Amino acid sequence: MTDVEIVIDEHPALVVAEMLAEAARAGGNVALTGGSTPRLAYERAAELQRDWTRVELWWGDERCVPPDDERSNYGMAKAALLDRVELGPVHRMRGELGKKQGAAEYDVELGPLARFDLLLLGLGKDGHVASLFPDEPTLDENEARVIGAEAKLEPFVDRITLTLPMLRAARAVVFLATGADKADAAVRAFAGEPSRATPASLVRALEGTTTAVLDPAAGRNLV
Ligand code: 6PG
Repeated sequence: MTDVEIVIDEHPALVVAEMLAEAARAGGNVALTGGSTPRLAYERAAELQRDWTRVELWWGDERCVPPDDERSNYGMAKAALLDRVELGPVHRMRGELGKKQGAAEYDVELGPLARFDLLLLGLGKDGHVASLFPDEPTLDENEARVIGAEAKLEPFVDRITLTLPMLRAARAVVFLATGADKADAAVRAFAGEPSRATPASLVRALEGTTTAVLDPAAGRNLV
């Protein structure tokens, strides 16, 4: 697996916002992440770049809730980014369909797409990535690109998630994690041996770059 470049910065959201804005200018396929951490990066990216018509937007995972639910990853990105820029095609995961039908439908939506140009990922304090949780059978999926999953952390709603092969296929994988409660997971994910106990440690771009953008609190055990 390729190494991960670790970037520790006082303003990680701005670092990621610049990467997103550059990807929007370059065009291609960009997959967004959910959770709370990327919201500021999305808001900044919208300020840095208004024209997103050259980029197709996708998601790495989604909670099985309607798009206007406060737990929706699409809903968060819509408020923080999509509603503030000129958009190209937007491919949201339809969480409201449930994990099985939602995953099947997203596989159809992906069509011939084999890899993202930029894949943004968060990091759970348990080391999970997208909705791939520690020691779960979802980690063994080697064929499908997108599957249903059970949540092992808040919010306890079913999930739709890309699989490890689809995450690893990205040209550029970018992790964004902030806060002291991510420090242990960050060491296991970015400086430890690859392990099913830390799914993020299993995600590196096979033929591309992998970058972890952290604030000093999340990166404190990596300096
Ligand atoms: C989700 C996410 C998940 C997230 C981590 C970190 O749907 O929950 O995609 O993988 O990135 O749980 O979440 P926070 O940024 O809220 O800590």
